[in-house]
Amino acid sequence: MTSSNSKQIVAEAAIGHLGDATIIGIGTGSTANLFIDALAPYANQLEGAVASSEESARRLQLAGIDVLELNETGSLPLYVDGADEFNIHRQLIKGGGGALTREKIVAGASRKFICIADGKKRVNLLGSFPLPVEVIPMARSYVARELIKLGGQPVYRQGFVSDNGNLILDVHNLDFTDPVALESEIDHIAGVVCNGLFARRPADLVITTDDRGQLVEL
Ligand code: A5P
Repeated sequence: MTSSNSKQIVAEAAIGHLGDATIIGIGTGSTANLFIDALAPYANQLEGAVASSEESARRLQLAGIDVLELNETGSLPLYVDGADEFNIHRQLIKGGGGALTREKIVAGASRKFICIADGKKRVNLLGSFPLPVEVIPMARSYVARELIKLGGQPVYRQGFVSDNGNLILDVHNLDFTDPVALESEIDHIAGVVCNGLFARRPADLVITTDDRGQLVEL
C-alpha cells in the first residue's frame, strides 16, 4: 500500500462523515485535495466551503464548490484536513504546506475536526517532522533565537511566503513530551503568528489506515 493509495482511501472515507452539513471547512495539501475531488459529486448538496488556503480555494472552484468567507459563515459543523504527523491523542503536527495559520483558524471555528492521514504519519511521540512556525517577517531572527532557547533548531523555509505574507521556520529537535504546553509556549513568543502543533484543539476523529491499508478510525 503506497501513501497515495492510503490518502485516497482516507479521503473517500471522510465523505461518509458529511452528515447534513451544507457548509464545511476544507484543509490544504495532497490528502485534502483528494477529499475535494471526492466531494465534487456532492457540490449541489453544498452551500459552499471555507478554504484554509488560496490553493484549496482554487481547487474547490474547479470542483464546482463555492468558496465562502469564514467571517460570513460563522461557526462550521465540520472541518476536514490532512496532517504531517498524528499521535494516539489525535494531536497533530501540520503546516508542511505552510497553511497552518488558516488551518488552525478554521479548525478552531469548527464543531468537528476530522483529520485524514496516511497511516505512515502515525507516531508515538510527535516531533520527527519539524514543527512549522509562521512568523512576521521582521521577527524571523528574533523568533529563531527564542526557539533555540527552547532547545529547538529552527530552519528558515527559503523562498516561501505564506498566504498571509509571512515566513516559516521549520523547527527540529523540540521536546514534545507536553504538546499542549509547548504549543502555548511557542505562541507566546512575540512575532509568532501561529505554530503547527494542534494539541490544544486536537482532531476529534482521525481517519487513517493500518499496515495492510485497511481503514482505521481513531
Ligand atoms: C498544509 O499546511 C499541511 O498542514 C497539510 O495538511 C499537511 O502537510 C498534510 O499534507 P499532505 O496531505 O500533502 O500529506
